[in-house]
Amino acid sequence: MRLLALCGSLRAVSSNSAALQAAALLAPAGVEVVAYGGLAGLPHFNPDLDTDAPPAAVTSLREAVGASDGLLISSPEYAHGVPGALKNALDWLVASLEFHDTPTILVSTSPASIHAPAQLREILTTMSARLVEAAFVTLPLRGRPLDAAAIAADPELASALAGGLARFAAAIAAQPRADR
Ligand SMILES: Cc1cc2nc3c(=O)[nH]c(=O)nc-3n(C[C@H](O)[C@H](O)[C@H](O)COP(=O)(O)O)c2cc1C
Repeated sequence: MRLLALCGSLRAVSSNSAALQAAALLAPAGVEVVAYGGLAGLPHFNPDLDTDAPPAAVTSLREAVGASDGLLISSPEYAHGVPGALKNALDWLVASLEFHDTPTILVSTSPASIHAPAQLREILTTMSARLVEAAFVTLPLRGRPLDAAAIAADPELASALAGGLARFAAAIAAQPRADR
């Protein structure tokens, strides 16, 4: 099973990125978590560019989603909203067949950030993602600059993350994507 990890932060040292890297370390047997690294290279969404031959970076994004059994999204909140870079990537996926019915979970690193997760729920539902709410994970990382190894070594954080991944993998196994 292959899960694609999409981080909404472009920072080099990012808590959301660390959480997703820790997910890769803690993935159950048979589950691979692959980071999507192209967020900063996507052009601004423009329907005029969304032709039969879209920009190469967009094709890569869509292929990465299409090759995945599920999606992990971890994102900061900026000014009570979803970071523009992440919303831009999602906009490129709106009309893409690869995205339809993709099992998706949110990995939140700041329990105090309530607006961006609420908006992501609304956006992803509108895009016909399949949100697996029972597997959503919240890790209290705000003010704790932990890297992936430190998250994976922390019993509480690791347990929360591994538990969410196990529930997510089980939900996907029970109901794979419609195109699988
Ligand atoms: C410009 C800016 C605006 C922010 N606005 C909010 C906000 O509205 N609500 C919130 O909870 N955190 C806000 N934050 C804090 C970030 O969401 C938080 O630092 C996040 O953990 C950073 O994620 P990262 O380490 O993955 O980059 C803001 C940070 C920045 C830089």
